[in-house]
Amino acid sequence: MLIRKLEAADLDGVVAVHKTSYPKGHLTSFFPASMLKDYYASMVSDINIALVAVSTENQVLGFVIGGNEVKKDFKKFITNNIYGLTMVSIRNPVSAVSYLLNFLKPGRRVASKAKTRLLSIAVSSSQQGTGIGHKLIKAFEDILSSRNVYFYGLSVKKDNQSAKKFYDRAGFVIEFETSDGLYYYKKITAE
Ligand SMILES: CC(C)(COP(=O)(O)OP(=O)(O)OC[C@H]1O[C@@H](n2cnc3c(N)ncnc32)[C@H](O)[C@@H]1OP(=O)(O)O)[C@@H](O)C(=O)NCCC(=O)NCCS
Repeated sequence: MLIRKLEAADLDGVVAVHKTSYPKGHLTSFFPASMLKDYYASMVSDINIALVAVSTENQVLGFVIGGNEVKKDFKKFITNNIYGLTMVSIRNPVSAVSYLLNFLKPGRRVASKAKTRLLSIAVSSSQQGTGIGHKLIKAFEDILSSRNVYFYGLSVKKDNQSAKKFYDRAGFVIEFETSDGLYYYKKITAE
């Protein structure tokens, strides 16, 4: 297994991993594959950190994406995908609309102090529990430290028990909670 920079050719593999692993109920679980590919493509830039774990056959086993610009990129993705997101909302009115309103409503959320965010991490369901998630976190943090960033955050849905356990064990602490989400942060310390 190798961890390297995510390239455009990996995006189908990233989408496949997302589809097998992300819990139902997350906004992105309602996206058709093509929209999910656009979503991840919009996050991949030199400013953000986007890494994949690949097998010796170059198959994507897991990925992590984050950085300082992910919120801005997400807003751009929404603007560029209004039609598709409207269709998703019509097909899944309760979950999708409430998620979008929650994201867009100004002042509704307490702002996290961590401007650098881990947007998404996932490991193929058949490979979970073998240490890939922790290795992706380590590689992500190594890049942050090389940029002199020692503090970052993420959010997770409260009902995502396995991810919560994973973040607790990876050294994250809770910053605050909302009605359905937990905001975590982590200080990166030298080993
Ligand atoms: C959260 C997630 C990324 C974790 O990835 P993972 O690769 O399963 O994580 P790891 O294998 O590194 O660690 C998970 C557990 O396996 C254990 N483990 C590590 N190496 C192992 C090995 N070689 N053999 C068996 N177990 C091992 C770890 O100790 C860890 O145990 P813990 O949770 O009690 O600390 C993964 O569960 C996932 O893709 N979830 C779905 C997507 C998702 O919800 N993402 C988060 C959205 S906010």
